[in-house]
Amino acid sequence: MENKFYLTTPIYYTNSRPHIGSAYTTLAADIIARWQKEQGKKVFFLTGTDEHGTKNAQKAKEAGVSPQEYVDKTSAYFRQAWQDLHIEYTNFIRTTSPEHKKAVQKALAYLWEKKYIYKGKYKGLYCPGCEQFKTEKELVNGLCPDHKIKPLVLEEENYIFRLSAFSEKIEKAIEKDELLILPLKRKNEMLSFLRQNKLTDISFSRKISWGVPLPWDSSQTAYVWADAFLNYLTGLGWTGDPQNPPAFWPADVHLIAKDILRVHATIWPGILLALGLPLPKKIFAHGFLLVDGQKMSKSLGNVISPEDLINWYGAEAARYLLASAAVFGEDGDISKEKFNEKYNADLAHGLGNLIARSFSLAEKLKQAGLKLKKASEKEKWPNNSAKFPYWQDYEKYFADLALDKCLAVIFSSYFPDKEKIPGLIKFLDEYITANQPWRLIKEKDERAGEIIYFLLENIRHLALMLAPFMPITSEKILAAFSALSPEEKRKREWGMLPEKNDWQKPQILFPKI
Ligand code: MSP
Repeated sequence: MENKFYLTTPIYYTNSRPHIGSAYTTLAADIIARWQKEQGKKVFFLTGTDEHGTKNAQKAKEAGVSPQEYVDKTSAYFRQAWQDLHIEYTNFIRTTSPEHKKAVQKALAYLWEKKYIYKGKYKGLYCPGCEQFKTEKELVNGLCPDHKIKPLVLEEENYIFRLSAFSEKIEKAIEKDELLILPLKRKNEMLSFLRQNKLTDISFSRKISWGVPLPWDSSQTAYVWADAFLNYLTGLGWTGDPQNPPAFWPADVHLIAKDILRVHATIWPGILLALGLPLPKKIFAHGFLLVDGQKMSKSLGNVISPEDLINWYGAEAARYLLASAAVFGEDGDISKEKFNEKYNADLAHGLGNLIARSFSLAEKLKQAGLKLKKASEKEKWPNNSAKFPYWQDYEKYFADLALDKCLAVIFSSYFPDKEKIPGLIKFLDEYITANQPWRLIKEKDERAGEIIYFLLENIRHLALMLAPFMPITSEKILAAFSALSPEEKRKREWGMLPEKNDWQKPQILFPKI
């Protein structure tokens, strides 16, 4: 399919409520999807929940309900949270849906027929937290480094996936960027891992009941990661037939965090190669959000939920605070204090104040009987640029998935070359201060009309840049330009604004807290 863009998030385990970490990935995907749509791409944005496996079964048992009842309830929390955050996915896949299960069975049956799956004894150390086997080398003091629990010694007669057959191919694909892993440091980590450890065959089934039964041996269920990975295909409506891949495949980007990069760069390409399907184009592994330097956990009592953020700041501000919480790709340290500070500085004071101030000036202009006037050559952007410079930088950052830098173009300052450029809001604040339009209005100087025109037209562009990040705020600001048609409002050209005092002052966007 031409002009398509397929992006995914991990499907989240339903054994806990959505937290700010899963919100971070899902929001990032939403921002990228909205941007790609604005570029005219046909976008498919997939997210969902991973509902099988020991963890979900265990939680259901503790809650005294059937696993299905349990995951029905907890999966809904995710859909609710994404709705509250104004996330617009194309499909929400659940691994307990009958369509998904059927397709998984069909795909596994194919691998079994092709002898990529065989029967064997599997012995290993299993961490139920990761739902993965661990090697002795990976443990720290005998414990899983991520979950701080002692892995179980499992010895079962299982069905095994011949991952070893694809070790070299996977290594080459990553080396040549046919499967591009970003950020580059993560690609290098993966490559050095693959060079030191040739991939070995892995257990692909378990003798547990909560899962997808193997079509040729119903006493075993599919390994939860095998089941989960196939969501990236079944979420597009794939029925499990390798001859008929979905039109949106391959994925343009799998968005994940660093915790699950290794499985995504080994088991998943292995499955695809065995099915004879193309590899994803790109995997982007972002960092972790930490609270005061620590992982969020119930026992530390430092978990922040998306619901908390929305209650404190509203959904639009929550989106901004999350999206700007870290350099995209690195870990980021968050706290309520930092969020409060940033809300006041960037949203109440920065953005909100600029909008209120600019439209008040426009009102004064009107009252003085002066008109907006297309800015003359006197108007200059940073570095003496005679052309609006911000789109170019913003688009380049979007192409690199540097989401935090796109926001810096709007909100703070950034370094496209060596030179530091003030972000658009900062630049406009300084522009107002330097030009003192209120003084010119008092003096009935027509130059005031040019200054305010320049200001408002910059604000229109600012609203367009905000759109993927804060869609509703963007709409509210654009609504102020009532003289323009919806298409005109969205044009990235300079000078769409007519020379008429025809606009509606927006309401206060972000009250100070
Ligand atoms: N179910 C598997 C994924 C299967 S995908 C085929 C899984 N689920 S998970 O619920 O544990 O989600 C892990 C993902 O949640 C991370 O990769 C990341 O996207 C997100 N995050 C969870 N905690 C996070 C932070 N503290 N910070 C940032 N993102 C984190 O693994």
